[in-house]
Amino acid sequence: MVQADLLIHSGTVATLAGHSAQPARGREMSSVGLIEGGAVAVRGENILAVGTEAEIRRAGWAGRETREIDARGKLVLPGFVDPHTHVLYAGSRENELAMKLAGTPYLDILRQGGGILATVRSTTQAKDEEIKAQTRKRLAEMLRQGTTTLEIKSGYGLSVTEELRELRLIKELDGEGVQDLVPTFMGAHAIPAGRSEEEYTDLVVGEMLPRVARESLAEYCDVFCERGVFSPETSLKILHKARELGLKLKVHADELESSGGAELAAQVGAVSAEHLLRATEAGIRALAAQNVIAVLLPATSFNLAQNLYARAKAMLEAGVPLALATDANPGSSPTESMPLVLTLACLYLKLSPEEALTAATINAAHAVGRAGVVGSLEAGKRADILILDVPNLDYLPYHFGSNPVETVVKRGRIAWRDQL
Ligand code: NIG
Ligand code: FE
Repeated sequence: MVQADLLIHSGTVATLAGHSAQPARGREMSSVGLIEGGAVAVRGENILAVGTEAEIRRAGWAGRETREIDARGKLVLPGFVDPHTHVLYAGSRENELAMKLAGTPYLDILRQGGGILATVRSTTQAKDEEIKAQTRKRLAEMLRQGTTTLEIKSGYGLSVTEELRELRLIKELDGEGVQDLVPTFMGAHAIPAGRSEEEYTDLVVGEMLPRVARESLAEYCDVFCERGVFSPETSLKILHKARELGLKLKVHADELESSGGAELAAQVGAVSAEHLLRATEAGIRALAAQNVIAVLLPATSFNLAQNLYARAKAMLEAGVPLALATDANPGSSPTESMPLVLTLACLYLKLSPEEALTAATINAAHAVGRAGVVGSLEAGKRADILILDVPNLDYLPYHFGSNPVETVVKRGRIAWRDQL
């Protein structure tokens, strides 16, 4: 009989089982598969079995070679999946804080050549090694806070060579690091200085996308669809071309204004629409009808500080599957923390802890095309497992501002452990 290399036992296990084929929606989002006194048996990179400790021991999975971790009084979860980040960049933008506090809108800072364009300058001026070193630090922080799989968008290059370089760097980091990284091409993140929307779009469609596809550098294509950035018509052009080239689609939709972004995402068959602070009723209905995942980013709302959050409950009631992400980036969301996102999702999106957890694990895995391998604790799936030093699920969003994660298992190996 095969024996486990690792057995995590006696904890409260949330398996998130049963949602791997389709993202959970509506009431399904409340079902997190809790097992009190649960155990997870791991062999190699994968999960052998999940059940009550008694079941697992009776089945004989644990033997003399098995390393055991006692999770009594603790919460055991699948690793968090962060399906929307811009974490590859050099530099930071704390110099914009005073402007923000004085009330300057996000897009005005961009129009003055700051915002995304400031990060484009600091990133394009940095050497490969410098960008990678800074990004590794952020990835390490994400790992400590439980993120075992994440998406990363390009978009701080805005030229053919620089966008391709960013995607190559994401690939290199994916190869060397602990986490699994999902690359998204987002050349349409801003319009570089001195170019018109039309000229730059021609470059994205005519040169960038074909190269990205030919060199297999990205799985998804995303567009910042927003008035003053990329109009719905332009966004459609880019997304159509991406789809034709075999990329899956995401849309930054209705973040700062209602611009029909949700409707657009539904129309092009996007996997997800992201942000959605100002999505309309019609937009929400369109997402539900096409089963587009709403990736909600409450840390961005918190940091934009305008008391405006996505209408998560209305989306949930309409049947839109919800996922949560950090949006980690140097401007609108300078954080790497999924636990913080869970707290904000409960307090301001009014999700229950169960709904928020589903959104941060299995539904997030669906949003990056990885639901068959990660996002839940089920036999055969990859052993990406967290042990949190919290006594129950409610405690996780309730207590904030410190790291609840005690142990991170990635592909069956202990990737990080709190020493205290
Ligand atoms: O998702 N909205 C556009 N892009 C990012 C912000 C990037 C930045 O400010 O550097 C976002 O909020
Ligand atoms: Fe974003």
